[in-house]
Amino acid sequence: MKKKIAVILGDGIGPEVTQQSIKVLDTIAKQYHHEFVYEHALMGAIAIDETGNPLPDETVKICKQNDAILFGAIGDPKYDNDPTAKVRPEQGLLKLRKELGLFANIRPVKTYTSLQHLTPLKAKVLEDVDFVIFRELTGGIYFGEKTLSTDGMVATDNCSYSVMEIERVAHLAFQYAQKRRKKLTLVDKANVLETSRLWRRTVQAMAKQYEDVVVDYLFVDNAAMQIIINPAQFDVVLTENLFGDIISDEASVLAGSLGLLPSASVGNTVALFEPIHGSYPQAKGKDIANPMGSILSAAMLLDHFGLTHEAGIVRSAVNWCLTSGFVTKDIDPMNSYTTTAIGDLVCDYIEKQLHGEGHVHHERLHKSTII
Ligand code: IPM
Ligand code: MN
Repeated sequence: MKKKIAVILGDGIGPEVTQQSIKVLDTIAKQYHHEFVYEHALMGAIAIDETGNPLPDETVKICKQNDAILFGAIGDPKYDNDPTAKVRPEQGLLKLRKELGLFANIRPVKTYTSLQHLTPLKAKVLEDVDFVIFRELTGGIYFGEKTLSTDGMVATDNCSYSVMEIERVAHLAFQYAQKRRKKLTLVDKANVLETSRLWRRTVQAMAKQYEDVVVDYLFVDNAAMQIIINPAQFDVVLTENLFGDIISDEASVLAGSLGLLPSASVGNTVALFEPIHGSYPQAKGKDIANPMGSILSAAMLLDHFGLTHEAGIVRSAVNWCLTSGFVTKDIDPMNSYTTTAIGDLVCDYIEKQLHGEGHVHHERLHKSTII
């Protein structure tokens, strides 16, 4: 299979984690006789520095010409600490999502037995956790009109949703639930917000078309609590843009590290794959960031191409690293491996897997990477 992939390395640790994914994709290509061709594009703070624009037109053009987009991370503290900045790196990502019609953001959440000690939660709570958050990505308060009064004393952000915007992401979530444990939870704030009442009414009406799916409804405040006290109850969680942003970071605590969670953003045209973590500027260039969120996003990209076997091998490689203790500092501060070493180990596993060789000797191979 030949595929063209647009690569947006972005800011902070974006480049270093994405490099590992490219290495992994190249290994998959070599082992399974595919051809992946990459075209790089700029977005975020780096794009502002080089062009003055967080999303140059050229980037949108490149994204549209490719079969998928692999994205790293975006953001820079020099903008975070300056609320008056007119041009911000995040605008690049938001505009790209909008321009490409990426209305559904899919964020799988699962727990790993070997990482349970990293979470502040009891092992019992983490058993059988395996759910997927469908976050609406191109509407709501993120994209509504924003105002700031001339005296700078009053600000507004408008939150708006149409039935069409709700239905298109809800259809994907229902269909996904049909392929899983057939349960869909709508997270909203229908006791207070008009937009949430529209979500609830729309999803209630759609439920009739998906009779095999059990639908339940949770207010977001309660959902935030349920994610911590009983996360195993969830299968597919459907929610609007802002709530999805917040609960997906919360849910990453279940996995043990924000650095582990991948995501796919899909819509009308080309799909985009990115880890859910941010640009983690403190770690930039240090080769300590966890590349697994990015590598697992690359696995979602392979799934998207229909390469489910290859995607499965990548996931096994990551699982093998996690259970063997080949992890970055966020997971094991005392005995950690570098970003690059994790990428190499995942690639080694993929190569050895195909040739039926064992993996025991990996420990020796990468010993030097221990801090
Ligand atoms: C995410 C991020 C983005 C968001 C930021 C960087 C704009 O937090 O993808 O979750 O809020 O959507
Ligand atoms: Mn976020």
